[in-house]
Amino acid sequence: MKPIMLSIPESFESSRLLIRAARWGDGAGVNEAVLESLAELKPWMPWAQHEPTLEESEVSIRRSRLEFLERSDLRLLLYNKETGQLVGSSGLHRINWQSRRFEIGYWVRTSCSRQGYITEAVEAITNYAINELQANRIEIRCDSRNTSSARVAERSGFTLEGILRNEACDTEGNLRDTMIFSKVRGVEY
Ligand SMILES: CC(C)(COP(=O)(O)OP(=O)(O)OC[C@H]1O[C@@H](n2cnc3c(N)ncnc32)[C@H](O)[C@@H]1OP(=O)(O)O)[C@@H](O)C(=O)NCCC(=O)NCCS
Repeated sequence: MKPIMLSIPESFESSRLLIRAARWGDGAGVNEAVLESLAELKPWMPWAQHEPTLEESEVSIRRSRLEFLERSDLRLLLYNKETGQLVGSSGLHRINWQSRRFEIGYWVRTSCSRQGYITEAVEAITNYAINELQANRIEIRCDSRNTSSARVAERSGFTLEGILRNEACDTEGNLRDTMIFSKVRGVEY
C-alpha cells in the first residue's frame, strides 16, 4: 500500500464552507486568524504559544501542502463560501493507512466561534473520510478540560470511548487527561 499513489480530492463543500487542502500563499490569511485568536488557542494548542510571523505561518502552510501531497497528514482549511474569509483550520491527522484510522483536529478564529462552523466542518470531514478515504475509525482527542472541543465531538455524534489519565502534558507542561471520542465503521456508520 503506497499512500502517495492514492487519488484524494483536495476540496469539497458543506452548506456554508469551502473545505480545502492548503496552498502556497495561504499563510497570510492563517497568520491574521491566529493573531486574532491567540488568547483562545494558547491553552490548548502547543504551536500557539507565541505570535507567529508571516513567514512562520507560510512555512507551516507549505509543509502542510507537502504532507497532503505525500498523504502523511491531511490539513484542511475552512473558508466562508460567501466572503472567502478563513474561518479556521482542521484536517485528518495521525493517519494509519493500513487500518484506515484518522484523527480530526480543529480550531476556529475567534470572530467566527460559536456559530456552528466547526461542527459543520467536522461532519463534512467525517463524510469525506468515510466516502473518499474508506475510514474504519475516526477519532477526536481533547484535553478533558476542553469542554468546547468535547461539545463539538458530542454534537457530531462521536462516542466517548474513555478518558486516558495522565496521558500527555498540557501547553504549560502539567499532566492532563485526554478524552477519546470515535466513530467506527459498522457501529456509528
Ligand atoms: C474547540 C473550538 C474549535 C470549538 O469552537 P465552537 O465555536 O464552540 O464550535 P462550533 O463552531 O461548532 O460552534 C458551536 C457553538 O455554536 C453554537 N451555534 C450557533 N449557531 C449554530 C449553528 N448554526 N449550528 C451549530 N451550532 C451553532 C452552538 O450552540 C455551540 O455553542 P455551545 O458549545 O455553547 O453549545 C474552539 O473553542 C477553539 O478553536 N478552541 C481553541 C482550539 C482548540 O481547543 N481546538 C481543539 C483541540 S482538541
